[in-house]
Amino acid sequence: MDKYSEYRFDNIIQDPDRSFFHKYQDLVIGNRRIGFLFYFEVCTVLFNPIQGMLGLALRKLLFPPLFGRVGRRVVFGHHISIRSPGNIQIGNNTVIDDFTTLSVRGSTGQHIQLGDNVLIGRLTMLKTRGGSIEIADHVHVGPNCHLGTASTLLIGEYSLIGSNCFIGGLHHGYEDSDKPIMQQPLDNRGGVTIGKDVWLGAGVTVLDGVSIGDSAIIGASSVITRDIPAYSIAVGSPAKIIKQRSRPSDGAASTKTVD
Ligand SMILES: CC(C)(COP(=O)(O)OP(=O)(O)OC[C@H]1O[C@@H](n2cnc3c(N)ncnc32)[C@H](O)[C@@H]1OP(=O)(O)O)[C@@H](O)C(=O)NCCC(=O)NCCS
Repeated sequence: MDKYSEYRFDNIIQDPDRSFFHKYQDLVIGNRRIGFLFYFEVCTVLFNPIQGMLGLALRKLLFPPLFGRVGRRVVFGHHISIRSPGNIQIGNNTVIDDFTTLSVRGSTGQHIQLGDNVLIGRLTMLKTRGGSIEIADHVHVGPNCHLGTASTLLIGEYSLIGSNCFIGGLHHGYEDSDKPIMQQPLDNRGGVTIGKDVWLGAGVTVLDGVSIGDSAIIGASSVITRDIPAYSIAVGSPAKIIKQRSRPSDGAASTKTVD
């Protein structure tokens, strides 16, 4: 057993003391209120699949009571998967595109918090298992990204995450060769912090435990295994710093090559 065992899907699904009904409530709904379950089912079965303007209008009207908080003019695309929506807060003018997943597992303060004017691209998955994801105002997350954490994943304002990025996730113990890796204790290395105005190119992987400083740029397909300081440009796997951006007081947007 490890400290994440209560959040592991297989532990919940194989729990002999929980009925099928309670497993569904614990994994999907996030609470055991029958009225909430009924409303959740009506919204997801009837309104989630509807495409076009009718679907957008119906979800705008009917989805907000499912969530912890929903600001003004939020757009919900079709076929969104939501898990424990009571632990999800969404700011004003934020767009949750089609086929996205917003999933919180855990009930003691774990949450997903999206600021104002955030875009979560189509097919992108935000997933916490006993942790929290906080995305500040004006952040754009491209399509088909996977953002996961068992501790914290923070993204500062005006950051741009290209398509197909993988950020965070968990570390699987592998010390015991007599046991399958999937049954060994999960661990996390402190979460991921991405500063303000950071640009991750397409297909970037950011491993758990890493910080990326404000205004840094990460080249396409790079793998970030160590902290990247503010205003650096890093590329490759593992990523190495190749340039520094000038700070605002140095003048506008020029770059200097690192020897
Ligand atoms: C990181 C990046 C911004 C750098 O752009 P730049 O400042 O114009 O840099 P350059 O093209 O001058 O490249 C500098 C060096 O880094 C290398 N390089 C650039 N990007 C790289 C990458 N992603 N991986 C590995 N090496 C890379 C170049 O080959 C070049 O090497 P060299 O000096 O040996 O020839 C750009 O290459 C990049 O990856 N952009 C992301 C694009 C993207 O993913 N867009 C869609 C998502 S929004």
